[in-house]
Amino acid sequence: MTGIVPVATGDQLRQAFGCFPSGVAAVSALIDDRPVGLAVSSFTSVSLSPPLVSVCMQHTSTTWPILRQSPRLGLSVLSEDHRDTCMRLAGKATDRFAGTDWTAAAEGGVFVHGATLWLDCSIHAEVPAGDHDIVLLLIHGMRADPRTAPLVFHGSQFHRLTAA
Ligand SMILES: Cc1cc2nc3c(=O)[nH]c(=O)nc-3n(C[C@H](O)[C@H](O)[C@H](O)COP(=O)(O)O)c2cc1C
Repeated sequence: MTGIVPVATGDQLRQAFGCFPSGVAAVSALIDDRPVGLAVSSFTSVSLSPPLVSVCMQHTSTTWPILRQSPRLGLSVLSEDHRDTCMRLAGKATDRFAGTDWTAAAEGGVFVHGATLWLDCSIHAEVPAGDHDIVLLLIHGMRADPRTAPLVFHGSQFHRLTAA
């Protein structure tokens, strides 16, 4: 470290944000009887009472305006074996769920099989934040499998978690 430099380009910021590791989650729902979703690395826990988590949705997303119309959203924290699933969920394919096993709850949330955590959520609030919206999600139900290792995203690459 030689010193603090002024923030310049988006690429530099992307590289900076990439220093912070995160998991990856799928946010998905049934829209017109078909699963619709996208991959997010911005998932984070927020509050225990009420139970809230958040994700950040970029304003250029074409999927979020459709997804946010669902009364419930399924949030699946992807496992270390979900690398390809994650790339499909972020990609251009018309059916992002092709080759992915999933389950839909009666209320509309879609959940990816093999995930380490499922959260059945509704939108609690949306806060504009620069070129993204911070979306606060209220948790109605959950299924956690702490023995399933999560996928780790760091420095624009996927990693597996190993004990320090
Ligand atoms: C690892 C990874 C993490 C991502 N995280 C986010 C995120 O937190 N928020 C977001 O809006 N898009 C995120 N994206 C991009 C979306 O998955 C998707 O590619 C983007 O929304 C464009 O697709 P759309 O127009 O269908 O929404 C991420 C993509 C990848 C591969």
